[in-house]
Amino acid sequence: MSEMILNIKELHTHFFTDEGEIPAVDGVSLHVNKGEVVGIVGESGCGKSVTSLSIMQLVPDPPGKIVSGDIYFKKENLVKVKNKRMKEIRGNEIAMIFQEPMTSLNPLFTIGNQLREAIRIHKKISKKLAHQKSIELLKIVGLPRAEEVMAEYPHQLSGGMRQRVMIAMAMSCEPELLIADEPTTALDVTIQAQILELMQKLNEEKNTAILLITHDLGVVAEMCDRVIVMYAGQVVEQGTVRDVLKDPQHPYTKGLIRSLPKLDEKNQALYSISGTVPRPKMGRVGCRFAPRCEFAFKKCFEQNPSLYSFQNERRSRCFLHDQLEGDAFKNGKATIGS
Ligand SMILES: Nc1ncnc2c1ncn2[C@@H]1O[C@H](COP(=O)(O)OP(=O)(O)OP(=O)(O)O)[C@@H](O)[C@H]1O
Ligand code: SF4
Ligand SMILES: [Mg+2]
Repeated sequence: MSEMILNIKELHTHFFTDEGEIPAVDGVSLHVNKGEVVGIVGESGCGKSVTSLSIMQLVPDPPGKIVSGDIYFKKENLVKVKNKRMKEIRGNEIAMIFQEPMTSLNPLFTIGNQLREAIRIHKKISKKLAHQKSIELLKIVGLPRAEEVMAEYPHQLSGGMRQRVMIAMAMSCEPELLIADEPTTALDVTIQAQILELMQKLNEEKNTAILLITHDLGVVAEMCDRVIVMYAGQVVEQGTVRDVLKDPQHPYTKGLIRSLPKLDEKNQALYSISGTVPRPKMGRVGCRFAPRCEFAFKKCFEQNPSLYSFQNERRSRCFLHDQLEGDAFKNGKATIGS
């Protein structure tokens, strides 16, 4: 059996706001094996970023808090480790890249300064050697005029260049796990492809496990071994990319796949799932997807579906997998019973 590097068990991360308690992550369990690339997909507001911030212990507190659950990184439970140890793990054993790298680069220091420091925190080497290593890394990530960039400030670089710097930083510490939260959303398509290729290289050459958060199922198909679909703070489907994309089980996943543009249907109107992700709410009863689900029936509004398991580590959170309703589902008659 593959060895897990990350194992999240029943994670609940809530925000305590003036409007009340918001269960942004509501019982998420997922794992990443050593060297594996796992994608998390789902529409805006599903809890993808809060899940990744919870792993890094970076949920803004207040108003956020991990109220229960465990996050095992190898043998350590990150929910319980001391701040000092978490600082060592962050950027050393686990690195994270965000959608907007400006949030993680310090605008007051040059790229060289930040890269050298990042390297020297993890490796006790001279400034001169760290400088050389920084230039090497910038070249590896394909940054043009690497030497000059070392003396420049983050605002002097383009979004794509900044993202490359972030990847260089992540590479400098050779993390065992890289969490990439929408790393290419702000970039144009060609740069996007290059950044993804860099991450792929990191995975192949250094065996870095990657948890890749994205809206884009195309990116998942290209990059990931397994995919986790989130909806309204919960995992609703998971499985190998091949299984899930070829034969999605959950109506939400089916909708996401149907929404993908198809090259051969140029003149067809693009499908989109009607409605929006509900705002997380305490004590919600019923399947969260029910108001938008074309298969919804009475039970869906009255009870919470659990995550059904199938062969090959597949899971789907839908009542249609109950024997009776499941047969109706397979026969395309699942709308009955409402
Ligand atoms: N600081 C905060 N205070 C209150 N609620 C928050 C806070 N941060 C996030 N949330 C809520 O948590 C839920 C999940 O947010 P999250 O950022 O994880 O979504 P996401 O899946 O990453 O979406 P996107 O694709 O837009 O990045 C949302 O309903 C959001 O409003
Ligand atoms: S449980 Fe019901 S509402 Fe939820 S996804 Fe399944 S069929 Fe749709
Ligand atoms: Mg997000």
